[in-house]
Amino acid sequence: MAILLNNDGRRHPDWKRALRVHLPEREVIEYPIIPDVKAIDYAIVWNHPKGDLRRYPNLKAVLSTGSGTEHFDRDTNLPNVPIVRLIDMAMADDMALYTLYWILHFQRQFETYRQQQSLQKWKRHPSPITSDYNICLLGLGAIGAIIAQKIANNGFKISGWSRSQKNLNGVTCLSGEEALPEALGMADIIVNCLPINTSTTGFLDYVKLSQMKAGAAIINISRGQIIEDDALLSFLDSGHISAAALDVFDQEPLPPGSPFWSHPKVHVTPHMSGATNPDTAAKIISQSILTLERGEAPNYLYQKQLSKR
Ligand code: GLV
Repeated sequence: MAILLNNDGRRHPDWKRALRVHLPEREVIEYPIIPDVKAIDYAIVWNHPKGDLRRYPNLKAVLSTGSGTEHFDRDTNLPNVPIVRLIDMAMADDMALYTLYWILHFQRQFETYRQQQSLQKWKRHPSPITSDYNICLLGLGAIGAIIAQKIANNGFKISGWSRSQKNLNGVTCLSGEEALPEALGMADIIVNCLPINTSTTGFLDYVKLSQMKAGAAIINISRGQIIEDDALLSFLDSGHISAAALDVFDQEPLPPGSPFWSHPKVHVTPHMSGATNPDTAAKIISQSILTLERGEAPNYLYQKQLSKR
């Protein structure tokens, strides 16, 4: 039997090499050239064409090469087999470090020092005390929890907001819509780590962004569609939001001419805060396949959400 591979066409040689290390006896067949659809028993995919996974009559499971699930939400014709999300601690750690980098950037005012350097100006500015610097992380799922913990371990004051109540060491965990205005209003930095689904699309809209503390900054490492672009731009222009570090956008790649490219208060990165690494991911995916082969359920099974997109 064989594995179907489609990482949206990206890094297939690296994936094949990494999968060979952990599943040496398995043939890996790259989409779209499938000599025999009956030979496929596992599919390792990202952003796979809608409906295609139904074509493999012996498919036992689908394994995602990423943690987001909107590509499955959009497919109304998924096969009736387990679908496994990728939750890779190495990826979560990268996202946590990315977040920490921007927290430090904003807290220690590195932007101001950069500008001062261009003017050959030597001037110190007081920084807020780390233990008083308030970070609010929205979304305490598997990845958000790791990021929150990393921020807490670095001495920041951290609260985390999620729909259902969570419990994390060193993190003030808040839940429910009613807790949100206070969470948003207290934070010096908001970090968006919410998953994208029908209830989070456009979640950070004009009203919620207006509830942020004046002069706070925002970091988005989840999905662009969660923050309303026009509302964000208008609050950046008014100064209510002092800066934004954006790794994700409504449209990716970010199109030429997008106001985010040239906005002086925006830092753009190309969805790289936690890129999947085939070496670490192939190990996790292979373990999930072996778990399924033993007749057990792997962690992080996907449950269908209805997507607006
Ligand atoms: C990346 O954004 C992912 O969902 O893995």
